[in-house]
Amino acid sequence: MNPEQRIQELSEKLHYYNDRYYQDSVSEISDYEFDQLLKELQALESEYPQFRQDDSPTQRVGGTVTKSFNAVYHRYPMLSLDNTYNEDELRSFDDRVRRGLDGEAYEYICELKFDGISLSFTYENGVLVRGVTRGDGTRGDEITNNVKTIRSLPLRVKADGIPPVFEIRGEGFMPISSFQKLNEEMETLGENQYANPRNAASGSFKLQDSAEAARRGLDSYIYSFLSDNAFFKSHEESLLALKSWGFNVSPGWKKVSTIDEVIAYIHEWEEKRAHLPLATDGIVIKINSFEQQRELGFTAKSPRWAISYKYKAENKPAVLRMVTYQVGRTGAVTPVANLCDLSERALPYNQVKGVHLSGTRVKRATLHNANELERLGVRLNDTVFVEKSGEIIPKITGVDVSQRENYETEPVIFPTHCPECGHELQRNEGEVAFFCPNDSHCPPQLKGRIEHFIHRKAMNIESLGEGKIELLFDLDLVRTPADLYDLNHDKLLGLEKNLLNEETGKLKKISFREKTVENILKGIEVSRTVPFKNVLFALGIRFVGQTVAEKLAAYFKSMRALRAATYEQLTAVPEIGGRIALSIESFFSVPENQMLVERLERAGLQMESDEKPVEIESDLLDGKTFVISGVFENFERDELKEKIEANGGKVLSGVSGKLNYLLAGANMGPSKLEKARKLGVTIISEEEFLAMIGN
Ligand code: IVH
Repeated sequence: MNPEQRIQELSEKLHYYNDRYYQDSVSEISDYEFDQLLKELQALESEYPQFRQDDSPTQRVGGTVTKSFNAVYHRYPMLSLDNTYNEDELRSFDDRVRRGLDGEAYEYICELKFDGISLSFTYENGVLVRGVTRGDGTRGDEITNNVKTIRSLPLRVKADGIPPVFEIRGEGFMPISSFQKLNEEMETLGENQYANPRNAASGSFKLQDSAEAARRGLDSYIYSFLSDNAFFKSHEESLLALKSWGFNVSPGWKKVSTIDEVIAYIHEWEEKRAHLPLATDGIVIKINSFEQQRELGFTAKSPRWAISYKYKAENKPAVLRMVTYQVGRTGAVTPVANLCDLSERALPYNQVKGVHLSGTRVKRATLHNANELERLGVRLNDTVFVEKSGEIIPKITGVDVSQRENYETEPVIFPTHCPECGHELQRNEGEVAFFCPNDSHCPPQLKGRIEHFIHRKAMNIESLGEGKIELLFDLDLVRTPADLYDLNHDKLLGLEKNLLNEETGKLKKISFREKTVENILKGIEVSRTVPFKNVLFALGIRFVGQTVAEKLAAYFKSMRALRAATYEQLTAVPEIGGRIALSIESFFSVPENQMLVERLERAGLQMESDEKPVEIESDLLDGKTFVISGVFENFERDELKEKIEANGGKVLSGVSGKLNYLLAGANMGPSKLEKARKLGVTIISEEEFLAMIGN
């Protein structure tokens, strides 16, 4: 089969499996098989970009990097909704609607109000061509590449009789489970965590690297359809059609005809909404008939035919039974409130069920740090108020001091020593958290450092994820990253352990069979070739994130030079300040760290950088793509590539319709030239190229 046919066949298959999974919840093949097909397609497309289809399933995994997003005007403004907070206000809305419609009969559609970010998707001839954020309502950012990673969003609508151009709107979100995973990862990498799924979604939809967006598992619920001519008669009709066209229409919507039924819907979802994969902060009601929507019209900011009702965040009293202290991967100590229901005050703590709050049971809430404890003035056995809002993590909002008459309380005393290793705790000036400085022996810190080390963005030893590190750590086989390079087949084969998931209380068995061992060892082997900048980042030096590691690697070029650098030399590096310099100095002054680096060097990791940093000369070629082919008079091909990149352009490997320029030298292959001509790509010579960049 020729590559063009195979690309087409693979695309069709993958579209089919994807639709079966996201629209019918049926997996006909395993994730592994799916990934294999996808990888084959990716490889073929990069070799033969001319055969890549506009709606190729490979776009789901991203890959394009957008330097800055285009601002685009919305064809129809993206308005906001008026809010109500109680039933009386809802009834007044209903009165206004009735008057506005002169006594005509009307129906409402009730929907949940999702707490994500609103997005608009444009389809032309059935193909998804644009995804845009709300922005200021008139103009938003074009984030098409990221939007295409939403697996439940059709890249092409295949239904008959669809309008040639239409726009779909919906709420983009990050499912709570993906949010938790992402934040754990951020913690491992020592990066700032997102406060809630909404912020995480908003940040992720605006990532410049769409492959990273793809990894974050973004999703959307669809709730509106727009087109130039009246295509549907009612909102209900449009939702049903969208569903049948394969869209992930928002779940739970219902048609009703009285405001009392609206209120019943509100009560019905008050608890049920806790089981959805994202936070909901209320409900939206919309007039069903599009004709009547037009009659009612808009105010400057919002439609007169719709309104939202916001649920109040539920706030309940609970008993603070005890405070436990969690030591994070960076050594920070976080106090955690262990709570129970008022009725459980006399029960032993291992028998309590916790407080019932917004549809879930709450037994623990973070108290953040010692300052927060002081601010709340909370004591053990106090009656406290607990609230759960869009933040997911329950919060203690205050103390019912009047209850101290009835129950004896005791002060909460913040520990002076680490609950995990017993070392004395410290607090740096200007920081709120106490931390355990015993970073070379404290178990959660050691484990955290290994997890950071193997991370995809560091040494990329993915074969060691999910519980395997925990097993190796608990069995004393790996206590520092350098120990990984002493592992071998005999040490690993047959290892087994039951791991406890603290949240669910479930046990999961991990065992190292032949195939697992092979993969682990292969992953470790390959990591020896990972570039120096990654090795530097993998060390997990405080304040040395990916970007800082990159800058340091480019500047000092070797671990040896970096280790020898003085404070003055470190702060002389552009964008490296005193805080980072001090942290680096202090890292390399610790004997354990010196030994770690030396062992890693002996294990054969890259301790020198061989990359020449790209020095930006201009933005003359911003957004332009080039293919270089043939032999040139004044430059090597590598040098031309550098020149293009230094001036903001990008070099591609194959000629396709999307290519801007073919930079043609002597003796280039006739087929490339011919193809470029056929596709209308501009062909330029070495001189013409130099003129473009002002040489
Ligand atoms: S309809 C004219 N339906 O709420 C307004 N919006 O305040 C059209 N939202 O920016 C919006 N769930 O992001 C609509 N089921 C739903 C919604 C919903 C959440 C958000 C949306 C919008 C904001 C309006």
